[in-house]
Amino acid sequence: MPLEVTAKHWPYPFWIAHRGAGRLAPENTLAAFRLGAQHGYRMFECDAKLSADGVPFLMHDATLTRTTDARARLAANTSAVGGEHAWSELSQLDAGSWHSRAYAGEPLLTLDNAARFCRANGHALNIEIKPTPGTERHTGEVVAAHAARLWQGADLPPLLSSFSREALEGARDAVPGLPRGLLLDTLWAGWLESARALGCVAVVCNHALWDASSVALAQGAGLRALSYTVNDEWAAQRLIALGTDGIITDRVDLFSPS
Ligand code: G3P
Ligand code: MG
Repeated sequence: MPLEVTAKHWPYPFWIAHRGAGRLAPENTLAAFRLGAQHGYRMFECDAKLSADGVPFLMHDATLTRTTDARARLAANTSAVGGEHAWSELSQLDAGSWHSRAYAGEPLLTLDNAARFCRANGHALNIEIKPTPGTERHTGEVVAAHAARLWQGADLPPLLSSFSREALEGARDAVPGLPRGLLLDTLWAGWLESARALGCVAVVCNHALWDASSVALAQGAGLRALSYTVNDEWAAQRLIALGTDGIITDRVDLFSPS
């Protein structure tokens, strides 16, 4: 049985590499994970959504254009991701050239292969469920179901997170035993009650939202307090002094995770 993750039994490292290696490599690719690992990182954040035929893969944006060569490679409408293109098409795209020549030809990464890399190397993963708009609940269900299969028998389950409550509801209903975190870009009314109702073990906030009172609220309610995306030394020091529980950073070259 995988380790049960609760706020009390929290097995994850404090430092988490955002999208693999922040901006040093093409985000959400295996090349980025490898580079983050070379910098000593043992936990990674990534963004997961679904292809038109239901394959979970890693991509931040709702459209393909910023981080792939879709405009040149795919015919007609290349704006949509999940609703428009099957994995057989997406798997042909170059997700590295936009970043730099060194990464030309780097493919998009499936959640399956991200899991293989993390499990083989003993790394932890935070899967941010980033649904194509309109597919929130379904994406949560499918990502959670895949994650449960991919990490079956693992000591360290992935942490699922999302800004979308519908996605977290889908994940919770599909696989209640996988740990969940509610992402917050503001402290909207009812955030704490929502996190608890969703059975979350953590809230993952824009780091500027944490102060002594919000940290006490979250931790007092039995939730871990994590932050994104922290790229400055002063901000990291502030969060450490506040007693928060984890930092997601792009700056794998600045912060030593050990
Ligand atoms: O999961 C934390 C962080 O990645 C959330 O924001 O837009 O970088 O996915 P974003
Ligand atoms: Mg993210």
